[in-house]
Parts: sequence; C-alpha cells; structure tokens
Amino acid sequence: MAPTQEEQQNEAGRHQEVGHKSLLQSDALYQYILETSVYPKEPEPMKELRELTARHPWNIMTTSADEGQFLNMILKLINAKNTMEIGVYTGYSLLATALALPEDGKILAMDINRENYELGLPVIQKAGVAHKIDFKEGPALPVLDQMIESGTYHGTFDFIFVDADKDNYLNYHERLIELVKVGGLIGYDNTLWNGSVVAPPDAPLRKYVRFYRDYVLELNRALASDRRVEICQLPVGDGITLCRRIS
Ligand SMILES: C[S@@+](CC[C@H](N)C(=O)[O-])C[C@H]1O[C@@H](n2cnc3c(N)ncnc32)[C@H](O)[C@@H]1O
Repeated sequence: MAPTQEEQQNEAGRHQEVGHKSLLQSDALYQYILETSVYPKEPEPMKELRELTARHPWNIMTTSADEGQFLNMILKLINAKNTMEIGVYTGYSLLATALALPEDGKILAMDINRENYELGLPVIQKAGVAHKIDFKEGPALPVLDQMIESGTYHGTFDFIFVDADKDNYLNYHERLIELVKVGGLIGYDNTLWNGSVVAPPDAPLRKYVRFYRDYVLELNRALASDRRVEICQLPVGDGITLCRRIS
C-alpha cells in the first residue's frame, strides 16, 4: 500500500540513512576533530587548565575542548563584552570566554563551589584575564532575582552560558530572557544529556542521567515553542542550544 501523505511528511522530517548530516559516527572521528582542529589551536593556558582538570575526581563535569573552542569563536563573532556564566567548576569555559573578550570585557561567574574555581584560578591569572571575572559563590537563582529586582541589568548581557543545575534551567530561562539584550545569546549546555533525550523509558540509564533527563526534555520543548527566541541546537559536547533573543 502506498504511504499516506502524513507518512510521507513524517519520513521527510526524519533523519535519513542516505545523505544524513550527522558525521560523528565513531569515537575515532571525535578524536580526529580534537587532534586535527582543536588541540593544535588550543591556547596554552586552556591546555594547562584542561590537563589540571583531568586529574580532578569530578573531571566529567568539565566543558570539552571542542566546546571551549566553539564558545571562544562565537563570543568573538558577536563581539561580546558583557557576559555571564552559571556553573564554573575549574573554569575551562570561563577561560575560553575570558580569552575571547576585549580587555574591558566582563564575566559575572557563579558557582556554589569556590574551591574548584580556585584550583583553576592560578592558570586564569597567569593568562592575564582574571580582571575580567567577577566570581560570586552561591546559588545563581537568587542573584538573578536580585538583578531583576534592581532593574538596572535588564537587556545588558551580550552572552550568557548556563552549565549548572539542570533542574533549574527553565527557572533560569525566565530570568535570563530579561537580562540578555535583544540580539544577544543564551547558551544552554547539555541539551542532548548524554544521548538520553531519545532513550526509551525503560532504558538502563545512570541515576543522575535519569534524574535530570525530564528537565532537559522539558527545556528543549519549551525553547522550541518560545516566541521570544530563535534557537539552534548543536551536537557539540553534550549538546548546546543557542537562544538568540528577538523580543
Ligand atoms: C558541569 S559543571 C560546570 C562546568 C564548567 N562550565 C566548565 O567549563 O568546567 C556544573 C557546576 O555547577 C555548579 N552548580 C550546581 N548548582 C549550582 C547553582 N544552583 N548555582 C550555581 N552553580 C551551581 C556546580 O558546583 C558545578 O561546578
């Protein structure tokens, strides 16, 4: 029986076997990207921080080198000057950001853990970019609420990178959409959440992956229907969704 029009449309919207766009078919291909295009161009301080972080027990949390390179490039492309980061850890994405900003650029960086930030801080200082960073220890949400309440930060950020508690992503979004400028970008990290966004409900997932999965799915749905932003979800790192505020 010939496929119905609806079946044909569904098929046209699906990932096709022939001519598909996803190139990352193997770990070897990812390694090829790192070794060919990322590591040879990685600034020395980022290499030092990456290697230092690799020896830390929670190193799984760090931003990957290809994502660091991507952030650095996008910040330069949009001429970002005033930025925010939620979720610093040892500071790899923070350093990628700081190196991309002009001398008078600013990053409001927030994390509940100062100790890990201080592990990476000597490298950031040696790179000569620590003066761009205003680190605040503590949960980010109340800081955002204060900023909104004060009324002086609305529409002032060129770029905001969110890489912390995934269960708060939608709460962050409702606040960040007011703080980012029209035409500015918010980047949400981990929006493919270890590939679990397409896992069947009974798939054997690690406990923390399963816990946050529904929040990530909810965020992805909400961003796709949010008329205040244009979005682009990229399979870089664990998936990053860029939101460009349009109203
Ligand atoms: C995935 S790591 C960030 C990785 C970092 N962007 C990098 O490049 O290495 C997540 C961080 O979010 C922090 N975090 C967790 N809950 C938070 C909250 N409510 N507010 C701010 N930071 C939080 C954690 O302490 C952790 O350092």
